[in-house]
Amino acid sequence: MGRARDKLLRRTPDEPVSRIQLDVARRMVAVREAIAHWRAEGLRVGFVPTMGNLHAGHLSLVSAARERVDRVVVSIFVNPTQFGENEDFDAYPRTFREDSDNLAAAGCDLLFAPAVEEVYPYGPAGTTRITVPALADTLCGEVRPGHFDGVATVVVRLFNMVPAQVAVFGEKDYQQLQIIRRLVKDLAIPIEIVGAPTLREADGLAMSSRNAYLSVEERDVAPRLHQALQDVARRVAGGEPAPAAEKAAWQGLQQAGFRPDYVAVRGAGDLAVPVPENRPWRVFGAAWLGQARLIDNLPIPD
Ligand code: PAF
Repeated sequence: MGRARDKLLRRTPDEPVSRIQLDVARRMVAVREAIAHWRAEGLRVGFVPTMGNLHAGHLSLVSAARERVDRVVVSIFVNPTQFGENEDFDAYPRTFREDSDNLAAAGCDLLFAPAVEEVYPYGPAGTTRITVPALADTLCGEVRPGHFDGVATVVVRLFNMVPAQVAVFGEKDYQQLQIIRRLVKDLAIPIEIVGAPTLREADGLAMSSRNAYLSVEERDVAPRLHQALQDVARRVAGGEPAPAAEKAAWQGLQQAGFRPDYVAVRGAGDLAVPVPENRPWRVFGAAWLGQARLIDNLPIPD
C-alpha cells in the first residue's frame, strides 16, 4: 500500500498488540488513500459501517462483503446523532480491542475508527442533516424521533469518507436498510447496497449488541419476540387480517413481560400499511424487555 499504509496506524499507540494485526485508520485522508490505491489496482472495495461491540451478526456482514469484493473496510463509530436524549449513547459498550481482533480474523482489511471531530467537523449538533421522508417517520422513527436523521446523516458522511463500491447492512435493521437504499438512490451516491440476512441465536433471538442488557431471566423470555412475529407471519399468510394478528401478538408479548413499541405488518418496500399493491409484506416488532429494546422483522410469505 506504500505511502497510504505509512499513514495508517497499527491499532492505536496505547493499545496492546493484537494477535492478528489489523490496519487502523483514524483519519479520512488515510482511508481514502488506501482505497484509492486499491481501486487503482483494479480491486473492488466493500464497506461495513458499524458502531462496534461486534457480535457474530456483524462478522457475517464482513463475510457477505468478502464474497463480493477484494478488500473490506469496516468502520467503528458510535454515532452521537442517532441517539435520543434519554438513550444509551454513554452506556453503549465500547469494545475496541476485541472488535479489532475479531475483525482481523474475519477478513477485514482496514478498520476505520474516526473521532467525533473527524466525522462532524462542525460538531454533531452543527452538522448538515439528511432527512429521508416517509420511510423515516414510521415504526422506529415514530418512537425514536430524529433517530433516522442521525443514521442517514452519518451514513452519507461515511460513504463520502470511505469511497467503496459496495456497502453491506444487516436486515435485522430492515427499516434502516430501506432508508439507506432510498437515500443512495435519491442522492445518486455511487455505491451498491447489499442487505444481509439476520443472524439468530439457536432459540431464534436476533443477534444484537443490545442483548447484552438482558438479565438471565429476560434472556430466556427474549426469543418470544421472534416467535410472536413468526405467528403474525403465519396468520397473515393464511389470510387473517393484519390488525387482528398484530393485536394478538401485542397481547402475547405484554403477557410475557415485554413493553411493546409496535407490532406491525408493512409493505417490504415502502414500509406503509399493507395493501395488495405493496406486497410482499413484512412483519416488524419492537419491544422493551427490562433495559433492552429489542427489534426484529420477518418476511411474510406471499
Ligand atoms: O447499524 C448500525 O450499527 C448504525 O446505525 C450505523 C449504520 C453504523 C450508523 O451509525
